[in-house]
Amino acid sequence: MIKEKINWGILGCGKIAHTFAEGLSFLPSARLLAVASRSGERAAGFAKRHNAERSYADYESLAVDPDVDVIYIATPHNFHFEHTLLSLDHNKSVLIEKPICVNAKETRKLIETARGKQVFLMEAMWTRFLPAIEMIKNWLKDRVLGEVKMLFADFGFNFLFDAESRIFNPNLAGGALLDLGIYPVYFSTMVFAQFPVDISSKAILGKTGIDEQSAYILKYGNGELAMLASTLKALASQSATITGTGGSIFVPEFWKARKARVTIDGKKSKMVEPDFEGNGYNYEALEVMSCLKRGELESKSMSLDESLMNMQIMDSIRQQIGLVYPFEK
Ligand SMILES: NC(=O)c1ccc[n+]([C@@H]2O[C@H](COP(=O)([O-])OP(=O)(O)OC[C@H]3O[C@@H](n4cnc5c(N)ncnc54)[C@H](OP(=O)(O)O)[C@@H]3O)[C@@H](O)[C@H]2O)c1
Repeated sequence: MIKEKINWGILGCGKIAHTFAEGLSFLPSARLLAVASRSGERAAGFAKRHNAERSYADYESLAVDPDVDVIYIATPHNFHFEHTLLSLDHNKSVLIEKPICVNAKETRKLIETARGKQVFLMEAMWTRFLPAIEMIKNWLKDRVLGEVKMLFADFGFNFLFDAESRIFNPNLAGGALLDLGIYPVYFSTMVFAQFPVDISSKAILGKTGIDEQSAYILKYGNGELAMLASTLKALASQSATITGTGGSIFVPEFWKARKARVTIDGKKSKMVEPDFEGNGYNYEALEVMSCLKRGELESKSMSLDESLMNMQIMDSIRQQIGLVYPFEK
């Protein structure tokens, strides 16, 4: 039976969880039913602010709630593995924040578990579902640039240093690559749809040992190149440019894309901004609910195989820059 409303649970009541809860509020077929935090008080405050009926002072109570259909996991990267397994063990569908987990080994185990139990799992790479990105995917499918040859993309902010924050703390899988570099990496996989034949990376490791700045050149099998970078130390341009034999596509703030400029033959140039609703996070939630309503266990737009491929790329980058987290040793 297809349910009219899908009941969501949120695990971890931090920053992005608030943004996601706002995103859900734009979807008439979504109900935020329950939230869980390590602190009962924080859970109750979050539930009140976002009109959730139930709040829990531990994550397991959310996982066992029989009325919750799908759990959105919004804890730091290094907990994604454990919290996803907890949710899958209780047969909950899962939308898990990016990165899906810390490395390819963990990712394989999550995928095996979800597929084995026939439970829905998707990585919350929200950018992928934005209307401007859908538009760019269609342009590429229609070969408006001819043959795509190159991609340039960077992402970064100038963060205030705090050794304990999840951004800089190696015990919370901190670093530019997994937090921000993941956006250009996923964008590149979207554009070239293949595993690179060569990866070349450089990084500046900071005093906590994580990559404060990192840059990667991915070479693909048909002679394409992607030049990608991420930084915790500079306000990056945050743009992406795709170039092809017949023109280019420029995407300002590509990670939260609202529009794109397409230029053909160096002359005809137009900025196109498709309609946009909500705060952007509603689109990934809608994808989850559409899959669940169709009885599909994986999203075609953000497949588990692709999440694994991207984690393998990021494992290679980390190997080259010498970044191993303490809990991986
Ligand atoms: N898609 C996006 O645009 C986007 C943006 C930002 C972040 N993210 C992703 O979302 C995840 C969370 O990021 P955030 O910025 O929301 O982080 P945050 O504000 O620090 O929140 C993380 C939450 O995780 C829970 N948690 C459990 N164990 C923890 C521990 N030992 N230390 C710290 N927190 C712990 C806490 O919730 P309780 O105390 O309530 O249990 C905490 O509030 C990250 O994986 C990040 O990559 C995605």
